[in-house]
Amino acid sequence: MPHFLAPSITLPSLPFISGEYEFAYEAKCRVDSHQSLILVRFKKDDTLQNDSSGDEFSHNEFFLRKVERLNKNDSIVKCEKSSKSQPTGIIKNALKALMDQQSNQHLITHNLNNNSPRQNLQSPFFKSVQHFLDFSQKYPQKCLIEVGFGSGRHLLHLAQSNPHLMCIGIEIHSPSIEQILRQIELLGLTNLYIIHTDARILLEILPPCIALGIYVHFPVPWNKKPHRRVFCKAFLEESLRVLDDNALLHLRSDDEIYFRDALDLALSHKHINLQVQKNHKNAIVSKYEARWERQNKDIFDLKIFKTTTQGQDSCIKSAKNTQNTEKTFIFDKILRKNLDNYTNFPYKKIAKDWFLHIDNVYYAKDVYVLALCFGDFNQPQNKFLQISFDTSYSTHYVGGNPIPTKAAYKAHRHLMEFLSVDSKDKE
Ligand SMILES: C[S@@+](CC[C@H](N)C(=O)[O-])C[C@H]1O[C@@H](n2cnc3c(N)ncnc32)[C@H](O)[C@@H]1O
Repeated sequence: MPHFLAPSITLPSLPFISGEYEFAYEAKCRVDSHQSLILVRFKKDDTLQNDSSGDEFSHNEFFLRKVERLNKNDSIVKCEKSSKSQPTGIIKNALKALMDQQSNQHLITHNLNNNSPRQNLQSPFFKSVQHFLDFSQKYPQKCLIEVGFGSGRHLLHLAQSNPHLMCIGIEIHSPSIEQILRQIELLGLTNLYIIHTDARILLEILPPCIALGIYVHFPVPWNKKPHRRVFCKAFLEESLRVLDDNALLHLRSDDEIYFRDALDLALSHKHINLQVQKNHKNAIVSKYEARWERQNKDIFDLKIFKTTTQGQDSCIKSAKNTQNTEKTFIFDKILRKNLDNYTNFPYKKIAKDWFLHIDNVYYAKDVYVLALCFGDFNQPQNKFLQISFDTSYSTHYVGGNPIPTKAAYKAHRHLMEFLSVDSKDKE
């Protein structure tokens, strides 16, 4: 993570403007006065524009964290990871602007060299989850989706051999993403979009019946922690919702336990059309597959086709192609005394299918910042909520709204209740 380190760090008087950056305020941590968050806003350059969730302003901001490390006798300012929706170059330049305010002989170290704000994942084909919140309006054509594309060989082949379809690759591993974005440019592809997220999150927000194929090739087996598997009951249900009639969900794996568990999950569906193959050759051999081939391992294919039953609305008949995103993150009238009076952090609420943690509270005069972790147990979202009792700032999630999964929305509603209902009325 970008940072700089010094025996002590003195911030200029805030708000402080340097070039395209504004360092707005420093919010001190309520339980640890040696930690604080610095809100940075920067002017948006249109060429860097990625996506907006409708809250444009919040996408131009992020936090830096300042920590006085008493045990090491030094101080550090670093990027606050969970507010980072900007390319690393932009964050490094903000840190450099603050570093320039320190006198050089007092600096211990930094890792802020060799970058331009345009580096790292700047590609018109790299999209945020938010970009797909209004999918149906943006993309009238059907699509193909690959989950965990790794080296990307199969996904590139899909895009090249289906130029009339849109292809979407979902990955959680940044180096794989950087690699495929370079390949997209080299091959001149225009029909392939890449998203850095957990596939289970993206599927949940996509509209129904839009995909002609979903491919999951050689997923991590997680046999000791099966709850971490991407191919789970919810994933299967969401895939079947997102797939068009008769379209394919294709699992290919070298792991027999994973394959059998996925087969059991599929068989537990009432109406399903399945095809199972063993050691079937694929046109494209991925990096992983090549490894297993050299070791003579068996390869299992599970092909699940979406079927429709009589009397049920099929994708063709269904007139409304609604997206699962009507949920909006509305802010109730927050009572300041609820923030001032509550000292028992971290606050934890655990429900059956969602949770909310308020990990910490930071404050700067009339602005409070809550460090939150919430949503689904398998796909928690970390966010900062800025709550303002002053007109200079607004109440919003810094870096953009959470991804509107059902679990995130339930957690948000609970948070609003926690913050807005008078504690007397809660009893
Ligand atoms: C074993 S590799 C297989 C890569 C590729 N499909 C192949 O056949 O070579 C599994 C890939 O899935 C990605 N992955 C794991 N969990 C994921 C998730 N929940 N959402 C998206 N990608 C995921 C990993 O980062 C990794 O690149």
